Amino acid sequence: MIDYNKSTKITVISGAGFSKASGIPTFRGKNGLWKNYDPSELATPSAFARDPIVVWQWYKWRLNIILNADPNPAHLTLAKVEQQGLDIAILTQNVDDLHERAGSQNVTHLHGEIRQARCVSCGEKFSWTLDLLNIINDIPKCNNCGSVCRPDVVWFGECLDSNILQGCIDRLFMTDILFVAGTSAVVYPVAEFPFLAQLQNPSIKIFEFNLDYTPISNIVTEIILGSVEKTLPKFFSI
Ligand SMILES: NC(=O)c1ccc[n+]([C@@H]2O[C@H](COP(=O)([O-])OP(=O)(O)OC[C@H]3O[C@@H](n4cnc5c(N)ncnc54)[C@H](O)[C@@H]3O)[C@@H](O)[C@H]2O)c1
Ligand SMILES: [Zn+2]
Repeated sequence: MIDYNKSTKITVISGAGFSKASGIPTFRGKNGLWKNYDPSELATPSAFARDPIVVWQWYKWRLNIILNADPNPAHLTLAKVEQQGLDIAILTQNVDDLHERAGSQNVTHLHGEIRQARCVSCGEKFSWTLDLLNIINDIPKCNNCGSVCRPDVVWFGECLDSNILQGCIDRLFMTDILFVAGTSAVVYPVAEFPFLAQLQNPSIKIFEFNLDYTPISNIVTEIILGSVEKTLPKFFSI
């Protein structure tokens, strides 16, 4: 199907659709709703300032789903491909840790990690475990200074960490094959990544895996419509 060898740099941009088959709701699907709240009204700094308890309750609901989920065949395929010696980097918008739990070693979280909480005052981070989840009914407090903690994720309207972003751009600029999988490609700046990679390397091969067409579909080499947990293993014959 495509030519690649151990010197080919393969990069994967994954989004919420990648983890959907693991039972983790996407933001834009019907089952993404919690108590009739729109996620775009909860994953914001102003929502946290207004009602931190409700925001933490929503994260508690999401973390509980994530901790009880398992990697699906799409996650496992990427890990297997890497184990075969291919140079593969994953740039994920997902805050879950399913790529890592599948065995992938080179994963960058552009939007943070839900398993961590971060102190709003001193920046101390700590793991947000199932035990903590059961104990804490309102807002986790910092072990270091006692201030309020927030989920260590990037909310709508917030900037991405500049070092992480630069690392992604460096990787995109050396990429030979790019997979864009399970993302609606509307959340910036990640939505711009395929365009940047193609500008830098016009001969890049871009494969999109999605249930539907997206704003990047007209620039990709091939769009593979269908569920990524089925199409990606087939693509690699795994
Ligand atoms: N698992 C997670 O960590 C998680 C879950 C929900 C939202 N988010 C956050 O929400 C933001 C939303 O952006 P996004 O683009 O990642 O997600 P999104 O919800 O905007 O879009 C999901 C995309 O996946 C596609 N899709 C759904 N199921 C699929 C499947 N089985 N196979 C292939 N494609 C499928 C949909 O057609 C859609 O284009 C991200 O910033 C992310 O941080 C993360
Ligand atoms: Zn602190």
